[in-house]
Amino acid sequence: MQRLLKAGVIGVGNWGRNVLRCFAQSQRCSVEWVCDLDEKMLAKQAPTVPRATATMKVEDVLDSDCDAVVIATAAVTHSELARRALEAGKHVYVEKPLCLSARDAEQLLDLANARQRKLMVGHLLLYHPCVERLAEMIRREELGAVYYMYTQRVNLGVVRQDENAWWSLAPHDISVVCHLFGSQPVAVSASGQCYLQKGIEDVVFAMLRFADGRIAHVHVSWLDPHKIRKMTVVGSERMVTFDDMEASEKIRVYDKGAEVKAGYESFAQSVAIRSGDITIPRVNSAEPLRIEAQHFVDCVLDNKPIRTDGADGVRVVRTLEAGAESLRRGGEVVSI
Ligand SMILES: NC(=O)c1ccc[n+]([C@@H]2O[C@H](COP(=O)([O-])OP(=O)(O)OC[C@H]3O[C@@H](n4cnc5c(N)ncnc54)[C@H](O)[C@@H]3O)[C@@H](O)[C@H]2O)c1
Repeated sequence: MQRLLKAGVIGVGNWGRNVLRCFAQSQRCSVEWVCDLDEKMLAKQAPTVPRATATMKVEDVLDSDCDAVVIATAAVTHSELARRALEAGKHVYVEKPLCLSARDAEQLLDLANARQRKLMVGHLLLYHPCVERLAEMIRREELGAVYYMYTQRVNLGVVRQDENAWWSLAPHDISVVCHLFGSQPVAVSASGQCYLQKGIEDVVFAMLRFADGRIAHVHVSWLDPHKIRKMTVVGSERMVTFDDMEASEKIRVYDKGAEVKAGYESFAQSVAIRSGDITIPRVNSAEPLRIEAQHFVDCVLDNKPIRTDGADGVRVVRTLEAGAESLRRGGEVVSI
């Protein structure tokens, strides 16, 4: 009989309940424990996985014979819970962000390596079929040279108290930008403002700079009239948008570009603008969270490398930390 991964899920709140569902739906995973400090939340979510034991004590999960621990609690708790789980010999999946400081992230990565355990961070969009498609288009040079990109992740809510909009929302965009550019930023400048709560930015505009001169702008907010989940990548040959709010036609490829040609008297004459067809590629509509959960399960059982591993978590947390420092310094450029 095929071996199943025994897992315990810690934190089954607004997002954690989806994480629980996706792990429970995996054919290769058996969710044995469901844990939450909130008794009511636990009473509501645990029965969705009838075979699992419900507990309010993290130790029950850590002391059990589970192979893996899935952490979907608030970000402030990630570092400690992930460390304890790794120390207990478990493979660990942690929701984004991996934790709230680069130092803690590096320690978790070292610990996972020392214990030879898998450490995965829930950079969900890297499991989105549309992001995979964008990466493939860039790899095949269908956009030409990638010049720059920008992302918008804004909505009215969910307003958090223990982290700002930058730490809450930007991990998604930063992970995608790093993935598509194939590198991590060397500097960040970020400006934001706190309107609803003192010291907690509701809106942030951040510029990520890369060593090769490319730039990416990230706009995140939970105080905005529009629900936008959109990215635009501008290349020398084509431009592409990924709009996650679209039900089906999420990617649009614009055969548009501009070229400066030599030999003309004026600059205006030398700029050739090309505006061709707009195409909408068909992309698989599988649920990214299910793909992500299955990836963790498969990588642990088959001992394969994880796409969004601890090193990826460290890269994103370093960028977040530099952005947070820039916010404190009024938008100064902070090197990473
Ligand atoms: N990937 C995504 O798209 C996505 C979306 C939303 C949230 N998230 C992430 O998921 C995580 C959880 O977010 P949420 O919106 O579900 O938060 P939430 O506040 O709704 O739920 C967190 C739950 O964790 C429980 N909890 C906290 N500390 C605990 C502990 N020590 N032991 C056991 N249970 C504990 C709380 O009681 C609560 O039920 C965060 O890291 C967040 O950034 C990811």
